[in-house]
Amino acid sequence: MKEFKPIKEGKVREIYDNGDSLIMVATDRISAFDVILKNKVTKKGTVLTQMSKFWFDYTKDILPNHMISTDVKDMPEFFRQPQFDGNSMLCKKLTMLPIECIVRGYITGSGWASYQKTGLVCGIKLPEGLKECDKLPEPIYTPSTKAEIGDHDENISYEKSIEVLEKLYPGHGEYYANCLKTYTIQLYTECAEYALSRGIIIADTKFEFGLDENGNVVLGDEMLTPDSSRFWPAEGYEPGHSQPSFDKQFVRDWLKAHPDSDYNLPQDVIDKTIAKYKEAYKLLTGSDLK
Ligand SMILES: Nc1ncnc2c1ncn2[C@@H]1O[C@H](COP(=O)(O)OP(=O)(O)O)[C@@H](O)[C@H]1O
Ligand SMILES: [Mg+2]
Repeated sequence: MKEFKPIKEGKVREIYDNGDSLIMVATDRISAFDVILKNKVTKKGTVLTQMSKFWFDYTKDILPNHMISTDVKDMPEFFRQPQFDGNSMLCKKLTMLPIECIVRGYITGSGWASYQKTGLVCGIKLPEGLKECDKLPEPIYTPSTKAEIGDHDENISYEKSIEVLEKLYPGHGEYYANCLKTYTIQLYTECAEYALSRGIIIADTKFEFGLDENGNVVLGDEMLTPDSSRFWPAEGYEPGHSQPSFDKQFVRDWLKAHPDSDYNLPQDVIDKTIAKYKEAYKLLTGSDLK
C-alpha cells in the first residue's frame, strides 16, 4: 500500500497530493482566539467536510466546484482507515487564484472596528448609524491577498484585485476579478438566505477559487463551514452588541473565564461544543450526521 504524507498541515486541515487530485482532510482540532486547543472535538472534522459537501451540492448549478467524492472507496487505499472516514474530500487539483474572496452581510469584527473609525469597511462607504452586527443593506465584497506565512492577510480593493490577476493572466485580470466578485456575492446571498430559513445567520464568509485545465473558474477549498465563516444563532439575534458564535461560544466563554487554563478544556465544554457542531449540521442539511 502506498503511504501518503501531507503536503501541507494547517491549523485544522491536512492536504495530501494525489497526482491531479488532492485529498483534503479536516481534523478534529479546534482553534479559538487563534490558538489550537489541546482538546480534540470528536467528529468536528466530519461535520466540516460534510457541510462543505452539502454546500458544494447545493450550489453546483451556479458554478462548478472541485469536489470529486467524500467516499473513501473512491480514494487510494491508504485513506480507507478510520481516521479518514467521513472527514476527507477528494478534490480536483486547481491552479488557485491568489485572492481570498471575503463577503460580509453583517458588520462585525474588524469591519465594525474600521467603520467606527472611518465609516468605511475596506474602502467601501457604508450608511451612517449602523449598530454593531447590523445587517448591511446589501452584502459587500472585501477581497484580500494571502499573506506569506506568519503575516496577516492584506485587505485590498476590488481594483487592486484586478491588478493582481492581470499580472498573472495578462488580458484577463478584469474578467477573472469580476467573476470572483460576482460568484462570491451570488453564492453568499443564496446560501445565507437558505441558512437563515434554517435558523443560522451566516454573517460573513470566505471563498477561494481556482482555474481548471481549461481556464474555467472553479470553486475550491472548504465552503461555508463555521471555520471559514461566522455562524450566529438566528434566535436571539440583536444588533447593538457582539453576537454569540454558533459553534465556539462555550469554548470562548470558558477560556475567558479561565485565563490560566493553558488551552486545556474540561470535557463537558468539549461535549457541548460537539453537540453544537452536530446541531448546525442538522439544521442546515435536515439530517443527523452519519
Ligand atoms: N482544489 C484545490 N487545488 C489546489 N489547492 C487548493 C484547492 N482547494 C484549496 N486549495 C489550497 O489548499 C490550501 C489549504 O490550506 P489551509 O489548510 O486552508 O491552510 P491556509 O489557508 O492557512 O493556507 C490553501 O492554500 C488553498 O488555497
Ligand atoms: Mg485556508
